[in-house]
Amino acid sequence: PSTILVIFGVTGDLSHRYLLPALSQVAAAGQLPKDFKVIGISRRNLKTQELLEDNEAALKKYIEPLQMNLSQLTDYSRLKKYLESSHGKTSLKRQIIFYFAVPPLAVLPIIRLLGQAGLNGEGTKLLLEKPFGTDLESARELIEETARHFKDNQVYRIDHYLAKEMAQNITVFLASNAIFRSIWDNRFVEKIEIDVAEKIGIEGRAAFYEPTGALRDIVQSHLLQLAALTLMEPCSGVFEFSELPARRLAALKSLQPARQDSIVRGQYLGYRTEVSNPRSATETFVSLTVTSADPRWEGVPIRLTTGKNLSERLTEIRIHFKQSDASQANVLTLRVQPREGIELELWVKQPGYERKLQKLPLHFTYEQHFDRVPDAYEQVLFDAMHSNPGLFSSNDEVLATWETLQPIQSRWEMDDKDLQFYKPGSTITEILKTRLPPNGV
Ligand code: BG6
Repeated sequence: PSTILVIFGVTGDLSHRYLLPALSQVAAAGQLPKDFKVIGISRRNLKTQELLEDNEAALKKYIEPLQMNLSQLTDYSRLKKYLESSHGKTSLKRQIIFYFAVPPLAVLPIIRLLGQAGLNGEGTKLLLEKPFGTDLESARELIEETARHFKDNQVYRIDHYLAKEMAQNITVFLASNAIFRSIWDNRFVEKIEIDVAEKIGIEGRAAFYEPTGALRDIVQSHLLQLAALTLMEPCSGVFEFSELPARRLAALKSLQPARQDSIVRGQYLGYRTEVSNPRSATETFVSLTVTSADPRWEGVPIRLTTGKNLSERLTEIRIHFKQSDASQANVLTLRVQPREGIELELWVKQPGYERKLQKLPLHFTYEQHFDRVPDAYEQVLFDAMHSNPGLFSSNDEVLATWETLQPIQSRWEMDDKDLQFYKPGSTITEILKTRLPPNGV
């Protein structure tokens, strides 16, 4: 359909880090609707050329700036008129997508004003960024309040990790490889480890990160969703992505809260100075081990770990298979980024007269076989425009993830005695093995 994408907060970090570069790629691939326009909303009166950075040049012919005060209802009525005049009157099928590149607290007021201004009719969609709320209660409120103005099928909640190529491939890999499908349960799997390691720190985003922290920023969304994709019942067909939200939800609901002694709450040295808060207890590193009540996975520990300012950027899922009396254990790694690919560790006999075993990888990477791996946001935009909800989080999934984390949040609110410090540039293994004493010095 003919599409207008309205971006609230077009000049912000989120727009330039993810959205506009991805949109430029979709434009360059010739995959934008024939009749397409972007309206970049900002507080200041900007010119078109001020909206775009160099790598977003492909959007020049589509984008228009619009100045708005986002807390004024009259400005939404002005936006409505502007949208009506911009939409070709001839086109029957048309849609307006509102993308929220604004701080989390600004989201609900904008949704309310869109509703009050009548900008919530058929053909309008909301494209929302995480985190959805800050805990179970606020997420519930956000969902209920949004439902007063928009129907569920108008709301697209982004978790861009779900749209990463390798994350999509977990579903496909399990549905189409009989070998793995038949050993994907607690009879064969010993433990699962999922890491989202980042080399970058908070990149000057203190105002966002200080009240958020790694548990809300990464565990509640990206890590739990990667776990859900790994544990869920395979879809009935390879590309039956419309079944995904229900399958992921069932997996998320089966997760049991993490055991207290499995939880590591860390902060990198120097963070407090960076955010100008000498007492900050915000975690930049979390590791916790959950289990599932699903009989297929009962007893299998699932360790989820994330951190900023670590030695390298690496997101991967490692499935450790059981060792039997007669054979060694194998590890299957699904590498989400960088160097997306799959690796299986095999045991082989070392050549030579002595009888020795050696572990060797059987692997492939996407870059060996494909010219380009699209960025997750390209898929997010494409799917939102085509009304494919499979790679977006449903309300129930959001609630289920907050529910799993609620006991940790409640405990962390009471005190920060368990906060451990780590040196920037550490590896996950180093942090888990050698923790610095509390207070970091
Ligand atoms: C975002 C988080 O959701 O994901 C950021 O808010 C994080 O803190 C980012 O840096 C990581 O995404 P990616 O795609 O670069 O791994």
